[in-house]
Amino acid sequence: AGGPWEECFEAAVQLALRAGQIIKKALSEEKRVSTKTSAVDLVTETDHLVEDLIISELQKRFPSHRFIAEESAAAGAKCVLTPSPTWIVDPIDGTCNFVHRFPTVAVSIGFAVDQELEFGVIYHCTEERLYTGRRGRGAFCNGQRLQVSGETDLSKALVLTEIGPRRDPDTLKLFLSNMERLLHAKAHGVRVIGSSTLALCYLASGAADAYYQFGLHCWDLAAATVIIREAGGIVMDTSGGPLDLMSCRVVAAGTREMATLIAQALQTINYGRDDEK
Ligand code: IPD
Repeated sequence: AGGPWEECFEAAVQLALRAGQIIKKALSEEKRVSTKTSAVDLVTETDHLVEDLIISELQKRFPSHRFIAEESAAAGAKCVLTPSPTWIVDPIDGTCNFVHRFPTVAVSIGFAVDQELEFGVIYHCTEERLYTGRRGRGAFCNGQRLQVSGETDLSKALVLTEIGPRRDPDTLKLFLSNMERLLHAKAHGVRVIGSSTLALCYLASGAADAYYQFGLHCWDLAAATVIIREAGGIVMDTSGGPLDLMSCRVVAAGTREMATLIAQALQTINYGRDDEK
């Protein structure tokens, strides 16, 4: 039967689908675009609208719960994960794609209790794919069970990454040299699709073998982490140690061997921490 957070999970699914309809409709319309931490860190009125919808609906139903959400954080709200039930929300992941009408855009809703991730719901709006993962209960896409790839050899790997918001010369140099190292190791390919959460869902589906990034945030990671773990995959820190949701960096893979190889190849790009901003 349901388990203690069943009602929360159901609410997350309903809201992700509702938000997805709004985003899908807005994708083809004119948008007002503003910038946040850099000239390429974008936000639109739809990000705000969808975040407000998700949070206000959840607050009505679960008044004691806490929230960490992308646009609230941008407005100055602190990102602290306490033991209280906490929703971790990215209203539009892939905002730059959304602005350009590149159809790789998602809603991401994660949920943690006692600082442990309980479930994640990610909705790929344009393809109408609903990814879900619940701790101890598997990961699914539109009802089909997900399973990561078993690849352990970097020279046979398809690797995903995202660029992150900084474009200063030192950051770009490190970003490109990390990619160069993986290409030197003869990875089959490196892909940048413009949405961390959907890249992580492709990894969970076995459509890619590894993912790494510096400069993402807890709301890009929370829901996807449960989905990958429940699909049999590994999510860890770029140092090779355990994942730190607030550390703005991650390596994920189908196997621990693959994750370790990627972690060893990378140089660190220091983006600070979500809980110290
Ligand atoms: C961003 C996207 C982007 C990634 C960033 C994310 P947003 O999320 O996933 O691809 O490089 O790290 O923050 O701002 O579109 O929700």
